[in-house]
Amino acid sequence: MEQTASESRRITLHAPEDFVGMRRAGQLAAATLDMITEHVRPGVTTGALDAIILEYIEKNGATSATVGYRGYQHASCISINHVVCHGIPGSKALVDGDILNIDVTVILDGWFGDTSRMYVAGNASTKAKLLMDVTYESLVRGIKAVRPGARLGDIGHAIQSYVEKQRFSVVRDFCGHGIGRTFHASPNVLHYGRPGEGTVLKPGMFFTIEPMVNVGRPEVKVLDDGWTAVTRDRSLSAQFEHMVGVTEDGCEVFTYSPAGMHKPPYGA
Ligand code: MF3
Ligand code: CO
Ligand code: CO
Repeated sequence: MEQTASESRRITLHAPEDFVGMRRAGQLAAATLDMITEHVRPGVTTGALDAIILEYIEKNGATSATVGYRGYQHASCISINHVVCHGIPGSKALVDGDILNIDVTVILDGWFGDTSRMYVAGNASTKAKLLMDVTYESLVRGIKAVRPGARLGDIGHAIQSYVEKQRFSVVRDFCGHGIGRTFHASPNVLHYGRPGEGTVLKPGMFFTIEPMVNVGRPEVKVLDDGWTAVTRDRSLSAQFEHMVGVTEDGCEVFTYSPAGMHKPPYGA
């Protein structure tokens, strides 16, 4: 897709002082994911995890961006095994070997902080561990492509080419997004694409990169609850999400874990 001037005009270019607000929101979201780690184990329900997350966010002077968002009622999305994204917390208890993504978005002083990571309840299979490693590495490669003058297609290509070389697939139906003082803004950040195509990156752009990677086919379907997205072939899926800001010479990642808990295994 060729870049159009109007597409580019819709993307907010944030000022240097805006990085401060975004950094604080991103760090709180990441600290929330750090905090929940020790609670993730077989037997705990996803609803219990969500309650702990909401309490932590509010205790830290923020609100949850997802509570009340388009009718969503929870402070997190918790997506287990073949759930790709937008899993709804509830009475389901984790069992040994489950892999899960926990995605939180906070609003702190008007800035949105959106990040997600994978977790394991008990011990994961070799295949599941490989999937999580590949998904995290694809995000790292996407982030490395972010600098002024690069294009969105460079990010998508970095992610897709790596994932497919590992014989996994990239989900097409969900993408990263612009973020800042709003939750979902321009641009759409696709996790696949061709180098040199798409919108040109400029300093002050804030967006998420959040690849979803499947062991099997890329197709997903949304369940009757209107949220839960699952792999059509029921294969395992993984996701990691960071928020970045384009700087003069590269990018700043707002959502690195303050505790250094970037991907599983955590403290093992
Ligand atoms: N945090 C998700 C994202 O990365 C959006 C979740 S919206 C919800 O964009 F309503 F499902 F929570
Ligand atoms: Co997001
Ligand atoms: Co998110």
